[in-house]
Amino acid sequence: MQVKVLPVSRWKGTEQSLILFMAEAQPRPMGWAGSDTVLKNLMAAAKEEGFLGKPKQVLVLHPDGGNPARRVFLAGVGSLQGLNEDAFRRAAGLACKAAAASSVRGITVQFPERGDAAKIRRTAQAIVEGAELSQYRYTEYRTASADDGGKPIEHLVLLHGDEVHASDLEAGAQAGDAVSRAVMLARDLVNEPPSALSPLKLSERARKLGPRVRVKVLDSKTAERMGMGGLSGVGRGSHNPPVFIHLRYQGSKPKAKVALVGKGVTFDSGGLSLKPSEQMESMKCDMAGAAAVLGVIHGAEQLKLSVAIDGYIPAVENMPGGGAIKPGDVLKMLNGKTVEVLNTDAEGRLILADALAYASREKPDHLVDIATLTGACVIALGTRVTGLMGTDQDLVKALVAAGDAAGEPLWQLPLVKDYREQLKSRVADLRNIGAKREAGAIIGGLFLQEFSGVPSWAHLDIAGTAWADKELPICPAGGTGAPVRALLAWLTGLAQGGSSAH
Ligand code: BES
Ligand code: MN
Ligand code: ZN
Repeated sequence: MQVKVLPVSRWKGTEQSLILFMAEAQPRPMGWAGSDTVLKNLMAAAKEEGFLGKPKQVLVLHPDGGNPARRVFLAGVGSLQGLNEDAFRRAAGLACKAAAASSVRGITVQFPERGDAAKIRRTAQAIVEGAELSQYRYTEYRTASADDGGKPIEHLVLLHGDEVHASDLEAGAQAGDAVSRAVMLARDLVNEPPSALSPLKLSERARKLGPRVRVKVLDSKTAERMGMGGLSGVGRGSHNPPVFIHLRYQGSKPKAKVALVGKGVTFDSGGLSLKPSEQMESMKCDMAGAAAVLGVIHGAEQLKLSVAIDGYIPAVENMPGGGAIKPGDVLKMLNGKTVEVLNTDAEGRLILADALAYASREKPDHLVDIATLTGACVIALGTRVTGLMGTDQDLVKALVAAGDAAGEPLWQLPLVKDYREQLKSRVADLRNIGAKREAGAIIGGLFLQEFSGVPSWAHLDIAGTAWADKELPICPAGGTGAPVRALLAWLTGLAQGGSSAH
């Protein structure tokens, strides 16, 4: 989508479609720059149609001559109190979907002027994200043109009054564009069929990221020789060998050194502890953590963030082939700890164990892993909130704040010390599943904690949020790209020298 910023005085959009944001109980749309007569007509029509400016409300009006545009989309953002950027992200997305459904190709958005320069930038960023992400479709394997929701919108004009500095809008719009591209990269990778995106193919995608991202790929022999028993063990059940991907983005004058570890199970059949078919159906999404790492690094490069990021991706297929690990087998991980594998479907923690140990050797300021780790997390928090655990409460707080600002909420779960004993094994240092079915997400976190070797570590369980069974406000069904926006908001804060998103 092409995005342009334009002052109202230069807009002559009589033929275009216009999005106007409208808060509840307000006499006019936000940033309204038209005449009083037109306003009166619009508001009368809105009242007649029962439009109140509530979130999710979108009203299409076809005003008569003398009006600002042929089609007006009124988009509700809810109450002015507590209004945040995410309301604009969603409202812009819903209005753009409505516009696309009525075959609109270009759209003008009246910018809702409010707040200082930073707030204006964030609002512009959110609007562009909502607009672009709402138009995302995965069409790689479609031979007929997609008939769901019409053709996507191609042009967007952000219209602003004279009081607003165009430079703030431009900066925000550019950031929104970069973040959207990062999210869409992650969505594309998750949506790709599993046999088309083997571990090796995933590493080839990593190599294509960009000129400022260095990529090193360890093949399965090297990984095994180094002592990555988790990755090698899980990989043994598949004809497609595992790989370990290391990416490095080095921003100028980095304010922090961050390590991101992403679970890259390109397909999770469960292994010999085979999943039932209904649960296997969406398991191409089990590399969503890896997709998020690639998306975030791509985004950081485009945003030119002043941070150093190391990305680590253990990539593997979890299959029940003849060489597969068996329940009862013992694996030795990179940090020397041994693990009794009692359920081969708890494979994510086995490969992440090696990756966390490897990443810790570089002593990053913060180590964050992202993984579709447990069905238990989906039971606990559902599909709209990412589970978060960590050993550094400042890091946890910063991630939560970033997630809220980005419209990708994270919620902390406790790493309960007393539950640690459930991971005790009779034959090895640890077992890979808890003794009971309780607190599965936390048990997963406690297992990973054994392999992080830095003080500031956090674990994001995205099993619920990485994949959408049904369409969301700014995402079609399939890969969501979560938590790319949250992580980029966090890194943006770090790069600006703060500890949070603002
Ligand atoms: N990839 C799954 C977790 C998952 C479930 C992701 C649903 C997305 C949606 C993971 O490898 C897994 O199978 N976890 C097991 C762990 C159990 C055996 C301790 C689970 O959650 O059932
Ligand atoms: Mn599994
Ligand atoms: Zn898995």
